[in-house]
This record gives sequence, C-alpha cells and structure tokens, in this order.
Amino acid sequence: MTGTHAVGILATGSYTPERVLTNADLEKMVETTDEWIVSRTGIRERRISAPEQASSDLAYEAAKKALAKAKIAPEDLDMIIVATVTPDYSFPSTACLLQSRLGAAKAAALDVSAACTGFLYGITTAAQFIANGMYRYVLVVGVETLSKIINYEDRNTCVLFGDGAGAAVIGRVKEGYGFKAFDLGADGSGGELLLQPAGGSRKPATQETIDQKLHFVQMSGSEVFKFAVRVMNSATEKVLDKAGLPKEEIDLLVPHQANYRIIDAAVKRFGLSDDKVVINLDRYGNMSSASIPVALDEAFEEGRIKEGDNIILVGFGGGLTWGATLLKWSTEQA
Ligand code: UT7
Repeated sequence: MTGTHAVGILATGSYTPERVLTNADLEKMVETTDEWIVSRTGIRERRISAPEQASSDLAYEAAKKALAKAKIAPEDLDMIIVATVTPDYSFPSTACLLQSRLGAAKAAALDVSAACTGFLYGITTAAQFIANGMYRYVLVVGVETLSKIINYEDRNTCVLFGDGAGAAVIGRVKEGYGFKAFDLGADGSGGELLLQPAGGSRKPATQETIDQKLHFVQMSGSEVFKFAVRVMNSATEKVLDKAGLPKEEIDLLVPHQANYRIIDAAVKRFGLSDDKVVINLDRYGNMSSASIPVALDEAFEEGRIKEGDNIILVGFGGGLTWGATLLKWSTEQA
C-alpha cells in the first residue's frame, strides 16, 4: 500500500462461547431439518453466548489473546476499533467498554458499523493510521452476540447465525510485507434486504415494535445470496488487480463464513484447491463481523499460514457492504 510504513497483522486471537446449538436442537425449535440446513448452508452447529455475556465480554477474551501473542501491552495501543452490529449499548461504544476493561488508557476508541464486512472496514481504517505514521498499534475486533437479536421462531434466519469474537493487532511490518491492497464498497439501496427494523431513531422501542418482533434480524436470503456471490468475486478480483498478483499465487482465501455455496462459487471462480480456503462455518455458522478474524486465527493456529503467504480476506454483508484485502503475511514487527 502507499504510505510511509508497511502495515500488517501482528497477531490474532479469538473466542467463542461454550454453548453449542446444533441442527438437531433447531429441529425441535422450528420447522427445519439437519439435511436442509447442511445442504443449503453447510452449517452444522453454532455457539450461543450466555445470558450474562455481552459483546464486550467476548471481545475482551479475543483481544487478550491477540495482545499476548503480539507481546503488546494494552497501554501501548493507540486505537481500538470494534466492528459489531450487536454492541452492548447504542452508546457508549463497545470499543470504549473494551478500552476500559483492557486498561488501554491512551487508546482512542470507536465502533464501526458495516455488518459482516465490519472487520474488513476496521482493519482498512486501522492500516491508514499506521501507514501515515500517526499510530503505532491498533487493535481491531470483530464481535457479535447475534443470538440476542435473532428470532428463534424464524427459520429463515435462526439456523444461520452464531456468536463469537476475533481480534487482530495491526502494526508496522518489514518492507515488502503486509497489506498490498484494499477494496471497500457499499450499496445503501440494498439496506432493507438485511436489517434490524426497530430500536433506532426510525422506530424507537415501543410495546408495538416488540409485539411485531421488529427488534429481530430480518433478511431476504436469496437476494443477499446473489449479491454475495457477485461481490465476493469482484472484490477479490479488485485486490488481485491492485496488488498485481495472479490468482495462481493466492496461498489462502479467508472468506466471510455465511454459506458454503457462496464460498464454493468463489473457490471455483479462482480455481482454488481445498487446502487454500478456510472454512469453519460448519462449527460456528455466520458470526457476521467475527467470522473472518476467527477463521484467520484458527488457520494460523493450525499452522496453515507461513511467512510470505499471499492471503486474501473477503466479505460482504448488511448495508449492503463488501470488502477485501490482500496481504503478504509476516508477523515480524518493524
Ligand atoms: O452475512 C450476510 C448475511 N446473510 C447471508 O449471507 C445469507 C445469504 N443467503 C443464503 O445463505 C441463502 O439464501 C439461505 C440459506 C438463507 C436460503 O437458501 P436458498 O437456497 O436461497 O433458499 P430460499 O430462500 O430460496 O428458500 C427455499 C425454501 C423456502 O420455501 P418455499 O418458499 O420454496 O416453499 C423457504 O421457506 O426453503 C425454505 N426455508 C427453510 N426450510 C427448512 C427457509 N429456511 C428454511 C429452514 N429449513 N431453516
């Protein structure tokens, strides 16, 4: 990327709640089957946060691990960005709650709202601050407790989503490594395809909004599906193009984990073999902004990433939004 400093991901960390909700459990709750869920989505189970767990609690667990791996003290953080659509409160931001909990006294803190693309918006923002020399270390967390805003009587959505958190410490890396290209986009005209209708200033909470179940996620699944396939391909192509990298040189694709069929379309398009794609949606479902950082962290822990690998992170989501980045992996700080 252009800028004074090369920027990369110094370390990652993740956390998912203990409680597992399986397809068999869902069969007892709504008119669905394990066969339908697996064949249409690839999801087998997802994690559900405890009643007392809020997003900042999950974020804290993931952040602690990422900071420990990066060997960076919370006091050294210059900024905290939390990507979430399930903040603890409308305000203060979840990033502020996390800043206090971590004791990151000098860090600026803000939340990013870009739904499932939130982590990509977050790391892209973080990278600019570090590239231009304003900041040294930025913590980016993608976290969701979607189970709190899912209607477990709506089979169109309740089988898809899960809870979790993934964190990344962004900082300077050796010249020639780190982020090579970014692509971010939005099409607000598709906002109604995936939304939580009430609870904001358009429809503040009333007895009526609660009775009408307007505080739960609503989604036009097949419309989002078509959009997703299209932007996954175009965003991936854009970062390959910008970085001047042929698709044959992709070492690992870490896509947003919404639906196996969406990922498969991208895999076929770019001619990737199974070992070059990270998939964990069978175990977690769609964790929105947490999907990519959790998948990246697991891939790293499993030894699937080595120094110099060309890695693409790509996602899409409500907004509508999409994003991708291509990075040459190195966790060595500069
Ligand atoms: O992170 C971004 C957020 N969301 C997404 O990425 C989701 C993108 N969309 C998808 O993944 C897929 O569209 C779904 C998995 C949501 C649905 O798959 P689909 O192949 O697009 O199915 P469909 O919406 O065309 O629905 C097919 C049928 C419908 O029945 P009818 O109208 O054909 O009789 C649905 O009512 O499947 C029915 N259906 C279900 N059946 C059993 C919907 N949900 C379920 C269910 N179990 N859980």
